[in-house]
Amino acid sequence: MTAKDTESGWEAFYRANQDRAVSPLLRRALGPELLPRGNGHAIDLGCGAGIETSLLLNAHWNVLAIDKEPEAIRRVEALVAKSTSGTLLTLVSRFEDLDELPPAALVHAGLSLPFCASANFPSFWASIVTALEPGGVFVGHLFGDRHDWAGHPEMSFHGREDVDALCKGLEVELLREIEGDGGHVPHHWHRFDFIVRKR
Ligand SMILES: C[S@@+](CC[C@H](N)C(=O)[O-])C[C@H]1O[C@@H](n2cnc3c(N)ncnc32)[C@H](O)[C@@H]1O
Repeated sequence: MTAKDTESGWEAFYRANQDRAVSPLLRRALGPELLPRGNGHAIDLGCGAGIETSLLLNAHWNVLAIDKEPEAIRRVEALVAKSTSGTLLTLVSRFEDLDELPPAALVHAGLSLPFCASANFPSFWASIVTALEPGGVFVGHLFGDRHDWAGHPEMSFHGREDVDALCKGLEVELLREIEGDGGHVPHHWHRFDFIVRKR
């Protein structure tokens, strides 16, 4: 995947990732000590082909899966038709067009928040924090400011201090900064993985 691919379509990404394992970061957040179920509702932002949405449903969460790509939602619905326990709601929408999110005990955003336009990121992050119930958990990734694609006008990149500012007032369960070279299409990547809890 390159920044250019994301402009021309996500289908290749969904195909390349369809057999991958579930996000270890989400698995960690779902661990029994970390995550009380609260209202039982989870939101999967930028759900892609639905691997994590499916995990959540099978773990008996009611999930709202959101993605700007109708093809992603089509894939999610096809995937979860086979085996679901929780209830699935889907929404085709850009993050930038969402006014608010419904209350949730868990918000997951796997490799998707960096694709929110930087001008919209602060208000979108605020709506995520507002949606979390007290004790609720956000789990996801951000791209760092040394990522190869940094500066792309329709994306968001964060330095360590920016991430610390986003986490202010939240309990940080995990904050990991990783950086390296590689990937399906080789590039330099710089990423933050984080799990935070609303007090
Ligand atoms: C890198 S993929 C990650 C998909 C999935 N979460 C995963 O980990 O496999 C990013 C996803 O975010 C979606 N996306 C990108 N920009 C978006 C935006 N501005 N609003 C909503 N969804 C967006 C894409 O359609 C894509 O499905």
